[in-house]
Order: sequence, then structure tokens, then C-alpha cells
Amino acid sequence: MKSLIVTGAGSGLGRELALLYAKQGFHIILTGRTLEKLKKVEREIQDAGGSAQSFSVDVTKLEEVRQFIEDAVRSYPLFGLINNAGVGHFGPFEEMAEKEISEMLDTNVLGTIYMSQAILPYLKERNEGLLMNIISTAGLKGKVNEAGYVASKFAVRGLTESLQKELEDTNIKVKAVYMGGMDTPFWDESDHIKDKSRLRSPKEVAELILDSIDEDTIVIESNRK
Ligand SMILES: NC(=O)c1ccc[n+]([C@@H]2O[C@H](COP(=O)([O-])OP(=O)(O)OC[C@H]3O[C@@H](n4cnc5c(N)ncnc54)[C@H](OP(=O)(O)O)[C@@H]3O)[C@@H](O)[C@H]2O)c1
Repeated sequence: MKSLIVTGAGSGLGRELALLYAKQGFHIILTGRTLEKLKKVEREIQDAGGSAQSFSVDVTKLEEVRQFIEDAVRSYPLFGLINNAGVGHFGPFEEMAEKEISEMLDTNVLGTIYMSQAILPYLKERNEGLLMNIISTAGLKGKVNEAGYVASKFAVRGLTESLQKELEDTNIKVKAVYMGGMDTPFWDESDHIKDKSRLRSPKEVAELILDSIDEDTIVIESNRK
């Protein structure tokens, strides 16, 4: 059974992608900082007849990431990684706190870099696999009151496009996913989005991603009016 790591799998889009890929027969390695949330998703997958395992991993901590990948490869052959963990802080640029900016850069950019670098040698060894980066339409165009978040997502876009080129002669597929707003806990501590119930559900977005999985670049526009 091939295994797939999903970061930020305890809620929102990560949870939905984990549930869908489990149904496709992958062993899902659920990661995030909060073990209780991951264990809940793990039970859901197992109750539906799938296979999953939870690991508490903070993607901003390089040593923790490296140790986790070493442990994870022992259970099942590693097929891929979905870099989904991400955070956002919004508001006028000059009012952004240094802590908010560094949290976005550390999680969205460094977290994706650390995880990808740690897993790539194993994927290369098998010369197959999937590296999917969950970006955002914030990785495609600038937006008002989103400067720090957009900067972090443009960085992930640059990383992803470069890896697509660097790995084009291998059987490792690198996917860039750009989606508009989703109704997830991402917005719980923000008033940047007034009515998140008008956004797409993460389940719908996860299904659209899998429908387009043959594309290297997947764009899912927001259905917000
Ligand atoms: N919601 C939207 O409108 C939207 C739109 C476009 C793109 N996105 C992107 O979609 C991805 C998923 O977001 P979501 O909407 O599903 O939000 P979410 O429900 O808040 O999920 C994000 C997950 O990331 C985990 N996480 C945060 N910091 C982490 C860290 N340092 N290490 C490991 N895990 C960490 C969180 O779990 P813990 O706190 O337990 O670690 C959480 O489960 C993000 O990359 C986001 O930027 C979201």
C-alpha cells in the first residue's frame, strides 16, 4: 500500500484530501500540530475501511520534519506529499505585526520547503510520486489587505514551478494548486471575509482537485459573487 503524507490534515482542505485519497486506496499519513484533530480524521478514514496514521509535526521545525520523514518511510513505501498546511493574516500592510508576517513565511514557505526537501530523496529513489503544493489564487495575483499572505504564496508558486522544471525528466509529478476562498477554520480568527458560508466547501474543492489531477497547474476560482 502506497502512503501519502498530508500536512495540515486535521481540518479544512487537508482533511478532505486525506479522506478522498484514503478512498482511492492510499495509506494516509496525517500531520499537523494538534494530534486530537488528526486522530479524529484517522478514525473517520478507518471507519470507512481506509488506512491512516497520525503524526504531530510542526512544519516550521526543520529537525522535527526530518525526523518525522525518517520515521514515516519505515511504515509503507512513500508515494507522495501534499503540502497543505498554511496560515493567513490579513489587513493593511503597514499594520501587519512582525509575528504575523513571520508565521506566514515560516509555515507557508519554509514549511513547504522543509517537507519537500526531506521527502524528495525517497521519491527519487523510487522514481515515482506526487508532490502537490496547495497555494491559493493569492499565488497568482496581488490583493488588497493580503500583502504578506500573497508574498508567501508567490514564493510557493516560484518553488513549485522550479521543481516542475527540475523534476521534469522524472516520474515525480509536481502539482501547483491555486484555489479561491473556501469555508474552513482558516477564517475563524479573521474578519477579512465577511460571510464565509458563501465560499466553496473544502470537500467540493478537494473533489475538483482530484478531477483535474492530470494537470500540472490546477486553478479553481472562487464561486463568491
Ligand atoms: N480557506 C481558504 O479560503 C483558502 C483559500 C486558498 C488557499 N487556502 C490554503 O489552503 C490550505 C489549507 O487551508 P484551510 O483553508 O483548509 O485551513 P485550515 O482548516 O486552517 O487548515 C490549515 C491546517 O494547517 C495546520 N497548520 C498550521 N500551521 C501548521 C504548522 N506550523 N505545522 C503543521 N501544520 C500546521 C493546521 O493545524 P494545526 O493548527 O493543528 O497545526 C490546520 O489543520 C492553506 O495552505 C491555505 O493557505 C485556503
